[in-house]
Amino acid sequence: MSTSARRVATFGTTVFTEINTLAQQYNALNLGQGKPDFDTPPDIVMHLVQAAQAGQYNQYAPGSGTASLRRAIVDHAGRFYDLDIDPVHGVVVTSGATEGIFAAILGLVDPGDEVIVIEPFYDSYVPDIIMAHAVPVCVPLHPPAWTFDVDELRAAFTGKTRALILNTPQNPSGRVFTRQELSLIAELCIEHDVTVIADEVYEHLVFAPAQHIPIATLPDMFERTVTVSSAGKLFSATGWKIGWVYGPPALVEGVAAAHQFITFAVHHPSQEAVAYALNLPGSYYDAFRDMYDTKRRLMLSALNSGGLKYFTPEGTYFVMADYSGVFDGTPLEFTRYLTREIGVACIPPESFYSQEHAHIGHGYVRFAFCKSDELLGQVQGRLAKLRGK
Ligand SMILES: Cc1ncc(COP(=O)(O)O)c(C=O)c1O
Repeated sequence: MSTSARRVATFGTTVFTEINTLAQQYNALNLGQGKPDFDTPPDIVMHLVQAAQAGQYNQYAPGSGTASLRRAIVDHAGRFYDLDIDPVHGVVVTSGATEGIFAAILGLVDPGDEVIVIEPFYDSYVPDIIMAHAVPVCVPLHPPAWTFDVDELRAAFTGKTRALILNTPQNPSGRVFTRQELSLIAELCIEHDVTVIADEVYEHLVFAPAQHIPIATLPDMFERTVTVSSAGKLFSATGWKIGWVYGPPALVEGVAAAHQFITFAVHHPSQEAVAYALNLPGSYYDAFRDMYDTKRRLMLSALNSGGLKYFTPEGTYFVMADYSGVFDGTPLEFTRYLTREIGVACIPPESFYSQEHAHIGHGYVRFAFCKSDELLGQVQGRLAKLRGK
């Protein structure tokens, strides 16, 4: 009898499907998935429409991305981080950061190698590692401040470690790793000759005094780092799935080799629009961060009204809330209760953990605040009902 392959046998269905269905059924305000409920800025959409109508962008794009988008990615890295990227051999455009991370793992990690993952993690990392026939080694962040234990991190490095996936600003904890934390990770990667896959999709979603420091900018790190980012969060265009990977040509070559046989090339008109968007002046980036600073404030006051504790996010549009003061049960039970009885949907963090460490997330759920200010105001009214329970 035909069956699924063993490599996908453990994957199951994502919890997002269940929560989205439940949220719809109970008409809940959905703070589950990290998907803005507002639109991409109209000038950026206009560039997409113009590109689609121009008559030259509706066929396959070059495999590594259009020249204009690769140029814009390189200029952006130079403008914000003083990085000097080769626009021809140092960057590849992918179908979102999700494909970029997968292509990086397939292109830079051999079967049997170990890949260190900091958890709670973005849920595609571990399946990607498994599909590459490599071995995930998970190092947990510890609440309430979501910091890693230096000895636990050090112990994760072995003779088989090939890569480390680093996500900063971090989904779902909202941490932005400090220079001191990054230096420690860098030191271990240099000592053990490990490649870093740096997932920086929230690079512009950082709230002062936190500061985003790309690990590629640390001494001796550029040569061993591929940096992954995406237009999805920065331009509120998650549906376009335009991402990219950049780094030294010797590493990007491996990523591009995998990418050419995963998607070959990605949506052509969107690349023109993202090239325009990346070149927007600093005022766009400042306004984007300020918009989310307001949303963060609304989200935190909603959590306060419900008596939920939290670590104030330093970056991203997520917050992990501690519900242990108002509910006795697992994160999934609390999520179902909150969705059905209170009318607010969130995400239980089980899918962000290995089985071994899932207990660390017990008592927490994740809320996404990439939603309209009006909706976040309504969330406050609904969460207040938790206090009366
Ligand atoms: C940490 C992290 N990495 C990658 C992604 C995926 O980005 P994209 O939509 O560009 O594939 C997400 C999306 O939520 C994310 O949170």
